[in-house]
Amino acid sequence: MGDKVTLTIIKADVGSIAGHHIVHPDQLAAATKILAEAKQKGLIIDFYVTNVGDDLQLIMTHTKGTDDPSIHGLAWDAFHAAAKVARELKLYAAGQDLLSEAFSGNVRGLGPGVAELEMEERASEPIVTFHADKTEPGAFNLPIFRIFADPFNTAGLVIDPKMHDGFVFEVYDVFEGRSVLMKSPEEMYDVLALIGTTGRYVIRRVYRKSDNLLAAVVSVERLNLIAGKYVGKDDPVAIVRTQHGLPAVGEVLEAFAFPHLVAGWMRGSHYGPLMPVPLRYAKVTRFDGPPRVIALGWNINKGRLIGPVDLFDDVAYDETRRQAQLIAEYMRRHGPFMPHRLGPEEMEYTTLPDVLQKLKDRFVKAEDAYKVIKKHSETL
Ligand code: F6R
Ligand code: MG
Ligand code: MG
Repeated sequence: MGDKVTLTIIKADVGSIAGHHIVHPDQLAAATKILAEAKQKGLIIDFYVTNVGDDLQLIMTHTKGTDDPSIHGLAWDAFHAAAKVARELKLYAAGQDLLSEAFSGNVRGLGPGVAELEMEERASEPIVTFHADKTEPGAFNLPIFRIFADPFNTAGLVIDPKMHDGFVFEVYDVFEGRSVLMKSPEEMYDVLALIGTTGRYVIRRVYRKSDNLLAAVVSVERLNLIAGKYVGKDDPVAIVRTQHGLPAVGEVLEAFAFPHLVAGWMRGSHYGPLMPVPLRYAKVTRFDGPPRVIALGWNINKGRLIGPVDLFDDVAYDETRRQAQLIAEYMRRHGPFMPHRLGPEEMEYTTLPDVLQKLKDRFVKAEDAYKVIKKHSETL
C-alpha cells in the first residue's frame, strides 16, 4: 500500500438486453453489490458503476497501484456476477468478454479493457474519463493528439508556460505488443505518421514533457487479436488529467466537437462518426450505433470519487451530434461498400473467403471471359 492513488477503469461486455445495445439495470446492480462490499472491506476507496451501450464500466480508486491482482480479481468477480444475471435473464451474448474461465491475477489479455492511472494527487485533481462503444482504442488517437499536441485545439500549448514544452506520447503497436515514446512538438509529424493507422498504432499514454507527469492513459486491448478471432468489439476507455499546467477540461472536450470517423460500427465492420452523448443517450440503436462516447468529469479527493458530471450533457454539443447524424446518414447510404464497410483485412465478420472458395474454379483469364458468356448464350 502506497500513498499514491490509482484510478482503475475496467470494462467488459458481459451481455446486453435486446441485442448488443444496452446493459440491463440488474447487471449494474449485481456489479455494484460486489464493489460496495469491497469498499466496505477497504480493498477499494471508492467506485462508480455505469455503462455505455453494451459495455459495463467499473470505475475504481485504491492505493494498490496498477495491475494489482486483488483489484483485477475484484473486477473479474463483478463481471462474473453481471454475466450470471445476464444468463439468468437470458440476455444477449451473456459473458461474451470473459474469454477465460480461469482468472490468473490480471485481466489484461483475458478480454476486458483496462485503463489505469497511478497518481500523486495534486492539490485539486480534476479528471475526465471517456467511455466509448462500437469502436476501438485507435478511435481516441485523433482527439488525444489534438488535446496534447494541436495548438488550434489547446490554447494552453501556446500560452500556458507549464505546457509550452509539449508532451511525450507512448504509441503502442497492437500487433507487436511494443511501444515507442515520441516527443511533441519535435516529432509531431512522425507521431502522426504512425497514429493515422488507427487499427494498429494506438496512443497508450501521454506524459508532460517538463516533469514526466502522467497525463493520460487509453485502454489498448483488442479482443479480436486476443482471441485470435472476432469475439466482440474492443470498445475503449480513456483517463485524462486536466487543468493547472495540463489541458483545461474545455480543451479536452473541444477535441470531441468534431465527430470523426471511427471503425467499429455494425458487426465491428463499418466506419461511422463518433458521437459525443450524455449518459441518457449512451445506448446504440441505429444500425447498432452510431459509435458513441460519454465523458465523465471527476475530482479525486484522497481517492474519493467526487462526481461524476455528465460532460457532454450540454447544448454546446448539439451541433456536433447533428453533424454526426448527417455523417451517419451519408455513410449508411454506401451500404456494403467501402469506405463505409472496413477493408477486408479489418472486418470482424466476413464471407469473403467462402465466396472466393465457391468461385475459385469459375475465375478465368480476363480475355477469356467472353467465351464464358458466349457458351452461356448458346445454351439459352
Ligand atoms: C456488438 C456489435 C454488434 C454485433 C451485431 C451482430 O458489440 O457491435 O453490431 O456485431 O449485432 O451480432 P450477432 O452476430 O451476435 O448477432
Ligand atoms: Mg457487444
Ligand atoms: Mg460494446
